Amino acid sequence: MSININQPQGLPDIKFLEELANQFFTELPVSNPVGINPQELNYDSLASQHSTKEVHSFARTIPESESSALGLPSLGGAGISPTGSINAVNAIDLSHQQRNFPDPNFAGQGNVPQSVAGKGISPSAHHQGNEVNLANPQTSLPDPHFAGAGRVPQSVAGSGISPSIEGNETFSGLPFASGLDFFPVLNTVVADSPSFAPSPQIPISGLSDASYYFLQNDTGKDLTNAFFQEKKQHPKASAFKAAFDANLIKKDFPILQEKVNDRPLIWLDNAATTQKPRLVIDRISYFYEHENSNIHRAAHELAARSTDAYEAAREKVRAFVNANSTNEIVFVRGATEAINLVAKSWGEQNLQAGDEIIVSNLEHHANIVPWQQLAAKKGLKLRVIPVDDDGQVILEEYIKLLNPKTKLVSFTQVSNALGTVTPAKQIIDLAHQAGAKTLLDGAQSVSHLRVDLKALNTDFFVFSGHKVFGPTGIGVLYGKEDLLNETQPWQGGGNMIKDVTFEHTQFHPAPNRFEAGTGNIADAVGLGAAIDYVNHLGIDNINQYEHYLLLYATNLLKEIPGLRLVGTAPDKASVLSFTLKGFTNDEVGQALNKEGIAVRTGHHCAQPILRRFGLESTVRPSLAFYNTCQDIDTLVESLYKLKSGY
Ligand code: ALA
Repeated sequence: MSININQPQGLPDIKFLEELANQFFTELPVSNPVGINPQELNYDSLASQHSTKEVHSFARTIPESESSALGLPSLGGAGISPTGSINAVNAIDLSHQQRNFPDPNFAGQGNVPQSVAGKGISPSAHHQGNEVNLANPQTSLPDPHFAGAGRVPQSVAGSGISPSIEGNETFSGLPFASGLDFFPVLNTVVADSPSFAPSPQIPISGLSDASYYFLQNDTGKDLTNAFFQEKKQHPKASAFKAAFDANLIKKDFPILQEKVNDRPLIWLDNAATTQKPRLVIDRISYFYEHENSNIHRAAHELAARSTDAYEAAREKVRAFVNANSTNEIVFVRGATEAINLVAKSWGEQNLQAGDEIIVSNLEHHANIVPWQQLAAKKGLKLRVIPVDDDGQVILEEYIKLLNPKTKLVSFTQVSNALGTVTPAKQIIDLAHQAGAKTLLDGAQSVSHLRVDLKALNTDFFVFSGHKVFGPTGIGVLYGKEDLLNETQPWQGGGNMIKDVTFEHTQFHPAPNRFEAGTGNIADAVGLGAAIDYVNHLGIDNINQYEHYLLLYATNLLKEIPGLRLVGTAPDKASVLSFTLKGFTNDEVGQALNKEGIAVRTGHHCAQPILRRFGLESTVRPSLAFYNTCQDIDTLVESLYKLKSGY
């Protein structure tokens, strides 16, 4: 490399700087943070430093052309990055399954700090939840759902994998999986399913032309734009789409670099809340540094910036769930507030004594209690769709519950306690045939599978921002526009009115009529950034990756003697609820915490479904796209360790 002395003074020689930067990055230790963009690593150089055998151990086969274009051995799907396989800290040795207990590294570990051990455990969880029925342990995988191998499980086939994703690659296996009975079945399933081929280019919505209110301005949308533009402009940008590398994705989440009890944090409590990427954290800071103002209310620059940012976030939500209009997107505190809003406004106004509301046995308390309160107040009847022994709703029983008195069917798309993915479209269509409205609880679904509200045709849909990598305190109520406009608001105040006299008030149409007072502006903007991030990875890629990870985890967990998996429906997302014979769920949670692993133990705010399985609580690891096979291995090792008394 030589310095271009002909370069006009004062102007940088871009090519030279690029070369210099490349050389610099090549020489960096491979464990350096690289963010979301794997192109920042020089894979050619890494690959040549390490044996092909070592790196390919975890690799699916990528067509020659794609693989050489990318310059890396592909690791898509296995959650193992090139850095993971060659970095001592992350190395996984297939010949040695890391179950060599006692492990001297763990000697002398202290107790769980009280600040951790004593928190977040439901009082009802204590000393319960280990009632394993050995005659019916419900850990039947490999199970009939995978019989007839080659069939793509419904959770993949039915969840919106883009038909444009065409895979002709073969999947050569997940680490450790080859020793397991289920591997041939999994391999066939994976081989037949769409692979991790490049996803369609995802438009970054709401970034370039979002102009609301009265001022065209640049605002914080440039922050997000710049973040992604940089990646789009990279010469290997399309090849990048081929790899879904959870180890690289992890580096976008500052908190995932934390240590807990001297171990790298392994966050498996994603059903309770998800962690936030740097983009979201920065976007919120940017808002407070450059845009903070109340919205819709002033003729000054900052009011315009904040209003634009807030309304751009609304558009991002609309596009994310494929709603017809931003008028259908109401910002609320979270899924709980959204359900209460519907109960206290639409429910109060439209339901009469004798009317019936159907919920499922899977529901979170947030989708039970508001309806119970309304039922008590108005003389309504609450009816419950039962579930089978796998934890799936029984459609035949649901159909029997429907009748002309049914006015609402309110149910979850994914169970927070079991992970069951319900047949939402069928439930909604059947409700509509009976003349009922529907509310779909998407709190546990939006981060795991594509939600298409136009296709689902539900009347209401709710979700929380913090469960989709956004901030807490912000969530969304979707309602069909006419329905929202026919519904009187439940809270009155500023922002939601057209005109007020002492005699009469005229309300704005939706969504503003349901956004009384100053809302959580900054966090709505943060939620918009979280959606940008998810879109960038591609929700279909996320869905497919997590599906494999869930299979991988299920098949390792169910091998552990005395471990009872609760929730074994063929269609599942993210959640692995279990009990371990001989240990209280608290003991398991605390033992995992010692290893840096965060799981929730307790009733998960879903007591009725746990009681359906004879339990008051479970241990509940729950996955997100930044979890890896290595995270699962550490979880499994820790459970074996607990059982062997170390
Ligand atoms: N609903 C959240 C959970 O399932 C808090 O943990």
